[in-house]
Amino acid sequence: MAFIELKQVSFFYPGKKEPVLNSVSHSFDKDGITAVVGPNGSGKTTLTKIMVGIAQPNSGEVFLDSLPLKKYSLAEIGRRIGYVFQNPSHQLFCTTVEEEIGFGLKHLGKEPEAVKKKVEFYLDYFELSVYKNVFPLRLSYGEKQRVAIAAVLANSPDFCILDEPTVGLDVYRKRLLENYLKKVVRLSSGLLIVSHDHNFVKRIADRVVRMENGQVQEVSG
Ligand SMILES: Nc1ncnc2c1ncn2[C@@H]1O[C@H](COP(=O)(O)OP(=O)(O)OP(=O)(O)O)[C@@H](O)[C@H]1O
Ligand SMILES: [Mg+2]
Repeated sequence: MAFIELKQVSFFYPGKKEPVLNSVSHSFDKDGITAVVGPNGSGKTTLTKIMVGIAQPNSGEVFLDSLPLKKYSLAEIGRRIGYVFQNPSHQLFCTTVEEEIGFGLKHLGKEPEAVKKKVEFYLDYFELSVYKNVFPLRLSYGEKQRVAIAAVLANSPDFCILDEPTVGLDVYRKRLLENYLKKVVRLSSGLLIVSHDHNFVKRIADRVVRMENGQVQEVSG
């Protein structure tokens, strides 16, 4: 069954002649990894923003678990769908890396000991332990990217959207991320990954869709 479904969704930015999405109908399941590819400015980020209710369609409707997305609050959507922004600086707001990774778990009411254990795991896996007391916005782009990804995955959302997650990561860290995302999917969380990185997409995606000229086309899967 579709987890996120777009039905005839159109979206325009004010003042632009061409729609970014032109009557797009597409479903995304809760299992497997879907990659969204397409040229710069084709609307990949806009598509993901519409999927999580940050942007609203001008016409058509988005459904989450068969219910119109607009019936959910942004907080409810956030509990079901993890979202890693294209620019990690847009989502980091805590005073330390440790706090950033534990923020969602603490907010979900998890026991402090359980939060600590999980945070330690993510710090270790994404090789961020040395930065645990550092102000996240002082880190390099790639380090910020790893913190942003860890902070979202730590909440174990049902579905996760990652917008260009490999930007700023070296080959070794891309492999670490790839292995971890494959594991996340096996543990029953669907993933949607926007990426320009052909090799990464080839290795990781079960399904590939391409955005161009306001349309989403199935490429494989
Ligand atoms: N806030 C905005 N206001 C007006 N136009 C916008 C806004 N955000 C994006 N756009 C325009 O909408 C189109 C789609 O942008 P979007 O960021 O969704 O593309 P993208 O495929 O994610 O691009 P990239 O590969 O560079 O990340 C582009 O033409 C962009 O200039
Ligand atoms: Mg984008």
